Amino acid sequence: MKQIRNFSIIAHIDHGKSTLSDRLIQAVDIVSDRDFKDQILDNMDIERERGITIKSQSVCLPYTAKDNKQYFLNLIDTPGHVDFSYEVSRALASCEGAFLLIDASQGVEAQTLANLYMALEHNLEIIPVINKIDLPSADIERVKNQIEEDLGLDPEKAILTSAKTGTGIENILEGAVKYLPPPSGDSTLPLRALIFDSHYDPFRGTIIHVRLFDGTLKAGDTIKLMYNNAFYRVEEVGIFQIIRIPQKKLSAGQVGYIIAGIKTVSDTRCGDTITLKSKPCEGPLPGFKEAKPVVFSSIYPVASDGYEELAVALEKLKLNDASLIYEKDTSAALGFGFRCGFLGLLHLEVVQERLEREYDLSLILTAPSVRYEIIMNDGETLIIDNPALYPDPTMIEKTLEPYIRAGIIVPDRYMGAVMSLCLDRRGINKNYQYLTNNRLEMIFELPLAEIVYDFYDKLKSITQGYGSFDYEIIDYRETDMVKLDILINGEKVDALAQLVHRERSVERGRTACEKLKDEIPRQMFKIAIQGAIGGKIISRSTVSPFRKDVTAKCYGGDISRKRKLLEKQRKGKKRMKMVGKVMIPQSAFLSVLKTD
Ligand code: GTP
Repeated sequence: MKQIRNFSIIAHIDHGKSTLSDRLIQAVDIVSDRDFKDQILDNMDIERERGITIKSQSVCLPYTAKDNKQYFLNLIDTPGHVDFSYEVSRALASCEGAFLLIDASQGVEAQTLANLYMALEHNLEIIPVINKIDLPSADIERVKNQIEEDLGLDPEKAILTSAKTGTGIENILEGAVKYLPPPSGDSTLPLRALIFDSHYDPFRGTIIHVRLFDGTLKAGDTIKLMYNNAFYRVEEVGIFQIIRIPQKKLSAGQVGYIIAGIKTVSDTRCGDTITLKSKPCEGPLPGFKEAKPVVFSSIYPVASDGYEELAVALEKLKLNDASLIYEKDTSAALGFGFRCGFLGLLHLEVVQERLEREYDLSLILTAPSVRYEIIMNDGETLIIDNPALYPDPTMIEKTLEPYIRAGIIVPDRYMGAVMSLCLDRRGINKNYQYLTNNRLEMIFELPLAEIVYDFYDKLKSITQGYGSFDYEIIDYRETDMVKLDILINGEKVDALAQLVHRERSVERGRTACEKLKDEIPRQMFKIAIQGAIGGKIISRSTVSPFRKDVTAKCYGGDISRKRKLLEKQRKGKKRMKMVGKVMIPQSAFLSVLKTD
């Protein structure tokens, strides 16, 4: 066990975590360069295009250190977004140490701090790394200052790297050996292994990613998943070295995988403890939490006969994504679909993209909503995440909505702008403190509903990209919500309804009508768009009739060009849905949430 090190790399988004991970893998030469894909750890298409890490992957790096001993360095990858913070916490619980990566030109940002706090909670040994030192805008001294003052870490320990040119990579491997503690644990005790991730393999079923704390495990053993109270016979155990390398056994301290004929990833839970049926451990490892969705949206196929296809696609996605939940849903306007729950907005977008790209579906998603607790006059509590199901307001005693605690880090010249953005979103400023002489951390409590849509984009734009943001849900608070209905040519469109705060309702009704007017294309007849609260019309806009003749500007010339235009128009139409007699594009369903 003395020769094992388990660690993560934690960083703010884009500070170079994936690039550095790839470098470490290249440095220990477990895959030949020819086979080396650009970003091996980010192996999903969508991830690569969006430049974010969603699904974590770990890798065991064999490394001969300067002391001439062979070490096994287990690099545990963590997903890089606030939506997946529970998965991050389980990955960190599997480590003894972490490299905290900081971009030499950007310096410390909100997620750098959030990640550091999380790593400290798990008592990890933390080594700061200053990356991208090759950039002309790199300011190493400034970052060292931040490491000392904002993070309270020793700047002298910082390792300087450029994941791009390869500078300093050896120092990271050597640093892991020298400064990170080896795992403790006892192979002779009953098995205790932490599930920190799992993924689905079409041939082998669920592949569970584990860290063994005590005991040993081999093929043929019968394991018990403690939370689910389920038993499985182990078919194979092994370690990850990009591909799976089967092993005779896994022992305390090691990180690896288990294959045990488990059908879907939902049968395993991130954070659960695995033990042996024949010799169980006394209790599970601490920290288990059930992943709870916080953002809800309904998904409908554009084609009315697309429901079956969507059902099959969701079922397949679910095999690999335990945190996605869904149930059947119907809408008067949109027909049959599914109400889905997501860990956050990014999770929602990832699911949407995968459904559209991998399953070639054309979809309508309704405006995302949070989950409200509604206490009725008769004492009953309703949990509502779909505005269409909002009960008769006269029967409601009170409504509670989820609140978050948000940490926002900005250069102080943006303090006023951030303050007005957050106050405008019903935020309460709890605290602020200077991290350095011109960088500020501002703490707000905000209703989750106010940030689910465009808050992050807004923050980025008012701070010219400098603002960073991190949040956690704290509690439910009493609120005064009303249901804003949207009528199109006099017909209520249930999928466009939203719950809004009473004080903002008129303003929100007005902007929703304006936005819809921009989104809904002109048609052969006039389209009236109205906002209504409890039957009372509060806003109105009109789309005047017009026939868009896209071929008019071609003057009968080049036929292929004409075809191209028609093709383009047809494509544009694909994501439109007939509601009554009116064609409504996908973007309209989300536009009602926009605030400017
Ligand atoms: P997420 O996966 O989104 O969390 O991002 P990440 O932290 O993994 O960042 P990633 O490795 O994708 O790098 C972000 C960008 O920075 C990419 O365009 C990299 O090419 C670039 N980059 C990473 N390391 C370096 C470096 O040392 N120098 C320079 N100049 N660019 C770098």
